[in-house]
Amino acid sequence: MRILITGSAGFVGSHLVERFLNEGHTVIGVDNYISGQVSNTDLFREHPRFTFIEADVSHGIPYTGDKLDWVMHFASPASPPHYQQFPVETLMVGAQGTQNGLELAHAHGAGFFLASTSEVYGDPHVHPQPETYWGNVNPIGVRSCYDEAKRYAEAITMAYHRSRGVNTRIIRIFNTYGPRMRPDDGRVITNFVHQALRGEPLTVYGDGSQTRSFQYIDDLVEGISRLMMVKYHKPVNLGNSDEFTMLELVGIINEVLVSVDYVMEDYFPQDDPKKRMPNTIMALNLLNWMPSVSIREGIHLMAQQFAK
Ligand SMILES: NC(=O)c1ccc[n+]([C@@H]2O[C@H](COP(=O)([O-])OP(=O)(O)OC[C@H]3O[C@@H](n4cnc5c(N)ncnc54)[C@H](O)[C@@H]3O)[C@@H](O)[C@H]2O)c1
Repeated sequence: MRILITGSAGFVGSHLVERFLNEGHTVIGVDNYISGQVSNTDLFREHPRFTFIEADVSHGIPYTGDKLDWVMHFASPASPPHYQQFPVETLMVGAQGTQNGLELAHAHGAGFFLASTSEVYGDPHVHPQPETYWGNVNPIGVRSCYDEAKRYAEAITMAYHRSRGVNTRIIRIFNTYGPRMRPDDGRVITNFVHQALRGEPLTVYGDGSQTRSFQYIDDLVEGISRLMMVKYHKPVNLGNSDEFTMLELVGIINEVLVSVDYVMEDYFPQDDPKKRMPNTIMALNLLNWMPSVSIREGIHLMAQQFAK
């Protein structure tokens, strides 16, 4: 297949490039490096089936090559510090960027695959969150540039599916981690792993009782690959439902990596969800998919890359 991936220099995008090249496909990566890394493009630059286009997909996707089979739209700043630094760009890539991807897919008769997010559920009143839950999002809060961009992205994807017949997929990705995340990503696993490897105390915000669930990147990529093969157009959650408090995560870091202290900081990011956990029954029934990498295994694999 010939697959165009927006956000190819990002964390998730680069793992998709790798997977598709290993499977024998031709891959066109597109990125403007707003939150990605040149080193992620360099990994594949010499590969005979990889081409890279540096472009802002919110202004258009300048692809003029042979017929595409898939447009995978993964471009968007994804970590709260990044999208809050670039709120307008984040809204644009969710809106115009998604529409440009849909137009390209439509023109090529290709499939369109949208990377949406668990953030569409906001600070949820239903726990764990099934795909049928409509969410609880603050439309004007500091996270809204991301949450609402993705909600719009889902809406326009369904509109192109319904009114233009585009063969679409939507995944709602829950917290994912692994090698090739930026060291300054700002999310808790990257922070903890870096602090532990530097022998620094781990910073816990609040009382450490807030919970999160974390999915290792290989599990996400497997779920994406399976969904491409199934004609299902409504959103599908992909995430790990093993839930940990931040203090439990401190214990796991101590056990798997190195014994370090932690410090508590009295700071709560605005609109930070207190709980978030996927209901993944849909992915199990539809794709026979469930996560297979444990948090201990995943943190170990991630630390190996950071330590290099
Ligand atoms: N990592 C997660 O836990 C997670 C969770 C939910 C959803 N997602 C979604 O998955 C996708 C990838 O996330 P990630 O963690 O790899 O983030 P990332 O920041 O590492 O990668 C995103 C990539 O998109 C590129 N990009 C952003 N705007 C662009 C634009 N206008 N034109 C071209 N390129 C642009 C960035 O430079 C970056 O390389 C995003 O759409 C994100 O919303 C990720």
